[in-house]
Amino acid sequence: MVTIRPERDEDHCAVFEVNEEVFATDAEARLVEELRQKVGPVISWVVEVDGAIVGHIFFSPVTIGDKGGGVRTMGLAPMAVREKFQRQGLGRQLVEQGLDACQKAGAELVFVLGDPDYYPKFGFQPVAPFGLHYADPKLDVCFFVKELKVGALQSVSGAVAYHPLFDRAFQR
Ligand SMILES: CC(C)(COP(=O)(O)OP(=O)(O)OC[C@H]1O[C@@H](n2cnc3c(N)ncnc32)[C@H](O)[C@@H]1OP(=O)(O)O)[C@@H](O)C(=O)NCCC(=O)NCCS
Repeated sequence: MVTIRPERDEDHCAVFEVNEEVFATDAEARLVEELRQKVGPVISWVVEVDGAIVGHIFFSPVTIGDKGGGVRTMGLAPMAVREKFQRQGLGRQLVEQGLDACQKAGAELVFVLGDPDYYPKFGFQPVAPFGLHYADPKLDVCFFVKELKVGALQSVSGAVAYHPLFDRAFQR
């Protein structure tokens, strides 16, 4: 049986293991632990198959440089589904439920840095036409935004940045 639900305190170990298994290093797994402790609000959901956690999605606040004040924004990262369970629609359910949870929590925009073949499936659009860019503009081809509140994109522009803990996590 497949269950998609918000993460609970007792899931932290299983979530760490999923991220550690799916990514090349434990940087993402450790980053999630740090963000949970130091940054708020975050949204963290898991997918269970027959009672075992096999996937995870995480959202944390991002900032928009020159003209973002007042618009509530989140960044999707990381997300992971254990290899054995990939390509079965679990990632799709995590993204859809995660975005719904972001919207219910009041987020107006969600950003993601990721695969151009994957995220547009969920209505994410390239940022450039909206006058937005990633902190490193070379990565703009992989940087996407989804509007959760109609019109929110009209009141933002400039550089978008994940929390500084992201940079630190990948420099270690
Ligand atoms: C990315 C990831 C979470 C997708 O999870 P998943 O459960 O395999 O995804 P789904 O089965 O729900 O696939 C959803 C859609 O994306 C497609 N898809 C899945 N993986 C894809 C990939 N790597 N590239 C392009 N399309 C992909 C599926 O065909 C499906 O398309 P459809 O709905 O049009 O048929 C999973 O592959 C993963 O954990 N990858 C390694 C970690 C990673 O790269 N995370 C993202 C960056 S943080």
